[in-house]
Amino acid sequence: MPVLEVQNLKMYYEIPFRGYVRAVDDISFTLDKGESLGIVGESGCGKSSLAITLMNLLPKNAKVFGGKVLLNGKNIFEMPDEELRREVRWKQISMIFQGAMNALHPIIKVGDQIVEAITLHEDVSKEEAWKRAEDLLEMVGIDRARAHHYPFEFSGGMRQRAMIAMALALNPDVLLADEPTTALDVIVQAQILKLIKDLQKKFGIALVLISHDVSVIAEMSDKVAVMYAGMFQEYGSAEDVFLNPMHPYTKGLLAGVPSVKGKPRRLKSIPGAPPNLLNPPKGCRFHPRCPFAIDKCREELPPLVEVEPGHFVRCHRAEELKGVPWDVGE
Ligand SMILES: Nc1ncnc2c1ncn2[C@@H]1O[C@H](COP(=O)(O)OP(=O)(O)OP(=O)(O)O)[C@@H](O)[C@H]1O
Ligand code: SF4
Ligand SMILES: [Mg+2]
Repeated sequence: MPVLEVQNLKMYYEIPFRGYVRAVDDISFTLDKGESLGIVGESGCGKSSLAITLMNLLPKNAKVFGGKVLLNGKNIFEMPDEELRREVRWKQISMIFQGAMNALHPIIKVGDQIVEAITLHEDVSKEEAWKRAEDLLEMVGIDRARAHHYPFEFSGGMRQRAMIAMALALNPDVLLADEPTTALDVIVQAQILKLIKDLQKKFGIALVLISHDVSVIAEMSDKVAVMYAGMFQEYGSAEDVFLNPMHPYTKGLLAGVPSVKGKPRRLKSIPGAPPNLLNPPKGCRFHPRCPFAIDKCREELPPLVEVEPGHFVRCHRAEELKGVPWDVGE
């Protein structure tokens, strides 16, 4: 049984008098113990919205319109709030939030903040929780004596490490990491990604890593989902998606990534911007930006089809466009 199984998940935000923002639309995937899924897509495509839906940690105007999130076989939308709070969040599924390194309370010692996370969920003495907090800091490469320090005495990279320690404090089966390195310089970014990968392997955690950065996703993921306008447009093994991209949006994203191998090439971009999800385009949601669009694309929403074993693509022309490169944009 997969640790996490998501079936046809739909979550929309309600905007009074204007309608619904279709941020998460018909998303499905599975994740086994120790496996990693990278979700990549431009800003506003619904990546963070998907993550908070997986935690069932939704703002008041968000509504789940369908689908299931099965965590260790149990649908989180059918669990009482108390069970979610005490037994599920942080213990079974945990999250490093986007911008997390600024989320530590500024005037509480880092050790005390980790202690609070532990004692809220487990019946342990303050002394035991404090020792665990120190152990966790050590595990993420921070000297245990630093538990007595305040967040402002930490560098950005150390604060992010502390947030990782907190997310792992209750040994979760699934870790969601939403842009965990975006605000960091490249050297610290590489260290933090290595740390996440090492801990994931060590504890057999199922990892969902979210980033707009294709190179980060390529480096870290077993499986990859390319998300656009609230939907997975392509989903499969990292090898399939990156070496044999079949959706024009994936091709466009990859055309903008410099490669150290092969002969130098001019980088391309995808002209335009993702749509407003209050009123997404009819048909294929990518058609206004797609150089390969035909009439059918403007009328009919393509289904997500298994084009090759384990490789899913949402494009009417996926087969015809095999091997055709992205060649527009500056
Ligand atoms: N509470 C909310 N109410 C209404 N709309 C929202 C809310 N939160 C997010 N949205 C909208 O949902 C869409 C998806 O946003 P989301 O934050 O999930 O994107 P993202 O892919 O994580 O982007 P980024 O890469 O910038 O973090 C956007 O159009 C956003 O404006
Ligand atoms: S369905 Fe049409 S518009 Fe959409 S990605 Fe495929 S070719 Fe482009
Ligand atoms: Mg986000």
